[in-house]
Amino acid sequence: MSDVGAAARCSTEAETLALGERIGTRVEPGDLILLSGQLGAGKTVLVRGIAAGMGMDPTLVRSPTFVLHHIYRAGAKVLHHIDLYRLGPHADIRLLDIDEMLESGGVVVVEWGEHAGREQDAAASISIDIDDDGSRVISPPSGAPSRLTDAWDDRGRP
Ligand SMILES: Nc1ncnc2c1ncn2[C@@H]1O[C@H](COP(=O)(O)OP(=O)(O)OP(=O)(O)O)[C@@H](O)[C@H]1O
Ligand SMILES: [Mg+2]
Repeated sequence: MSDVGAAARCSTEAETLALGERIGTRVEPGDLILLSGQLGAGKTVLVRGIAAGMGMDPTLVRSPTFVLHHIYRAGAKVLHHIDLYRLGPHADIRLLDIDEMLESGGVVVVEWGEHAGREQDAAASISIDIDDDGSRVISPPSGAPSRLTDAWDDRGRP
């Protein structure tokens, strides 16, 4: 691993939201972002921040655990929010046609992204760990383009 910066320690939900927002200002059409972390880790909170960074109303972002797929729009920008928890590790996710979402210029963020088996073509695979003190430790994705990992560097800036 080369110049991957330090993990973000987000001790409040607002800090996780702010990191998501910085990521959301840096995504590009066709980006696939995989999120992993235990139940309640803060994946949906991070997606809420990403939506805000893309200019969408973050209050519209709900856990899609039962719906699998939500779509948010702001102007020409489209965010596909997918949650694979209910499908589990052996899910046949082809029915979701992530490729079509990406090819049509959408940004696709997948909770329980490890179930997608798409690490190879993801722009970023982000994991969230809960530390002993409850803070969320969110690692900058190794191998991701710097336009995304920069979100970990400008802490405190929107
Ligand atoms: N530092 C923090 N960052 C994010 N969320 C936090 C933090 N501290 C506490 N929380 C709380 O943890 C919960 C995170 O919930 P969230 O729905 O985002 O988790 P999730 O990873 O999406 O879970 P699931 O796997 O069930 O979808 C929220 O209730 C939030 O208020
Ligand atoms: Mg969630």
